[in-house]
Amino acid sequence: MKILLVGSGGREHAIAWKLARSRHVPNLIIAPGNAGTAALGENVPVKAMDLPGMVKLAKARGVDFVFVAPDDPLAAGMVDEMQKAGIMAFGPTAAAARIESSKVWAKQLMIRNGIPTARVDVFDNASAALSHIERAPEGSIVIKVDGLAQGKGVVVPATRQEAVAAVRSMMEELVFGNAGRRILVEERMSGPEVSVFAFVCGSFVSDEIAACDYKRVNDGDTGPNTGGMGAYSPPEFWTPELAARVRREVLEPVARAMVKEGCPFNGVLYAGLMLTSEGPRVVEFNCRLGDPEAQVILPRLESDLVDICLAMASGTLSKTAVRWGGDPHVGVVLASGGYPGKYPTGYLISGLAEAANDALIFHAGTKIGPGSEVLTNGGRVVMAVGSGKSVASARGSAYRSTAKIKFEGAHYRMDIAARSAASGSHSRQERAV
Ligand code: AMP
Ligand code: GLY
Repeated sequence: MKILLVGSGGREHAIAWKLARSRHVPNLIIAPGNAGTAALGENVPVKAMDLPGMVKLAKARGVDFVFVAPDDPLAAGMVDEMQKAGIMAFGPTAAAARIESSKVWAKQLMIRNGIPTARVDVFDNASAALSHIERAPEGSIVIKVDGLAQGKGVVVPATRQEAVAAVRSMMEELVFGNAGRRILVEERMSGPEVSVFAFVCGSFVSDEIAACDYKRVNDGDTGPNTGGMGAYSPPEFWTPELAARVRREVLEPVARAMVKEGCPFNGVLYAGLMLTSEGPRVVEFNCRLGDPEAQVILPRLESDLVDICLAMASGTLSKTAVRWGGDPHVGVVLASGGYPGKYPTGYLISGLAEAANDALIFHAGTKIGPGSEVLTNGGRVVMAVGSGKSVASARGSAYRSTAKIKFEGAHYRMDIAARSAASGSHSRQERAV
């Protein structure tokens, strides 16, 4: 079996690692991939957003199916293009990917279908948005651009002044381009956040799994937002009762709603939730695996990922087991000096082999140098993912491993999963479909 995997991050290395362990023993092509995926298959330098190039590659290589992992090509319709060309593809169509690519569309879907989320007002002109903000109490709102903005299109303003500045930069200066022509002003919620994932095939929702990620660059959740500096699974507060409630109130209703509205979802649905005093409420939906959450949940997937993809693509997921279990996993990201701002690349990375004795090492921004050495090639460079019988022991492995990886300017957070390890929770999530 031949599989083409689209993407080049840590998530894609984790997907390639899991696909490679399949009983189908697939030949993997990764486009464009990184130094980690090169050890599991053949990297081909076609960019993830090059839709015609990717279709051409899939055809030329006669692949059995394509796994589209990142949000941008999904939103642009890569799955639709593959299907038009007669190639099986895993992931939602552009119409279904709107659940992530248009926050306004997703919000309206939730409101029409009674899915719990923050109240919202939508604006497509700046003066109406500004006069609304004048009336809102300080600290009571969150401002978001409608379209995709690399996770940066959300501002949680502490003061009215900050709120006004956010609206002006989004709608007047168009710092997020057309994504900011429409904005949402949301009620501000509070509570712990959790990312919940399930394979969804039409109205069928597989067993779900939960993880927590760390968006800020520095310890104690300070400093600017990043793509994610670490993750762990399962969260200490994730109980079977909470999981059942999230399925009943969020995952199953949204899958049914998308079928009813003519854009059935096929792929991984990712619900970003806030656990408020009134219960779980949706912050956002994404139409794909999270990064870095994929790196801590895929090692907990006991079922064969190729079987799951084939079942999703043929609409028969309800007949295929999706079993999550396994030990707790904790992942720590090593990032380039300067990230998430500007950073240099091309530094030699040492200690990778020794680090692999304690943990799984998933590459993100890496490339192979002229002498087969591994060099830095991005902001987030590698992630060390430890496992153990408890979150505390998984965390110990992750940090022992992280300490062995060296490159110029490397930095990482010291507090990934610290709160969970300290809570002493050894809870495991183990259920079968
Ligand atoms: P999003 O890109 O929509 O996930 O938003 C990014 C982050 O902003 C979330 O992870 C939350 O921490 C925060 N956020 C977004 N919407 C809200 C809200 N309505 N209330 C409180 N915090 C929010
Ligand atoms: N971990 C956040 C994301 O993948 O969007």
